[in-house]
Amino acid sequence: MTIKKRLAIAGLSLGCLLALPALAADAAKGKVKAETCTGCHAVASYQNVYPTYNVPKVAGQHAEYIVAALKAYKSGERAHQTMHANAINLSDEDMADIAAYFASVAPGAAAAAAK
Ligand code: HEC
Repeated sequence: MTIKKRLAIAGLSLGCLLALPALAADAAKGKVKAETCTGCHAVASYQNVYPTYNVPKVAGQHAEYIVAALKAYKSGERAHQTMHANAINLSDEDMADIAAYFASVAPGAAAAAAK
């Protein structure tokens, strides 16, 4: 087997691990795409820029759940103006990448850092 073939297979297997369920999600791209999100859903400390504003924790959340929530906000099935505005321009690929990133951030580590 050539190195190229091996890499392709390794890439495919990794893609399958991260696939949600059909798209190959890219957590590294998701981290960049999630920059605006962390202003509210701050991963490191869960401190929001608005102290009185309750924002659910998404770090460590299941990627499937995050994608489902974003699709529901985008379609308006889940009504929330702020999140509708945040989800409206996300493609399925963006959602999968962002979800892969948030899912890859350990909630325990962030909670410990916040102490
Ligand atoms: C201006 C603040 C703000 C920004 C920016 C923001 N969110 Fe949100 N987000 C919220 C609030 C508030 C809620 C709770 C809405 C509700 O009650 O349904 C929420 C809910 C969510 C949920 C559902 C969580 C759950 O437990 O059900 C997900 C997933 C989510 N946001 C992801 C994102 C992503 C991804 C981005 C960036 C593209 C983003 N948010 C940007 C404030 C924000």
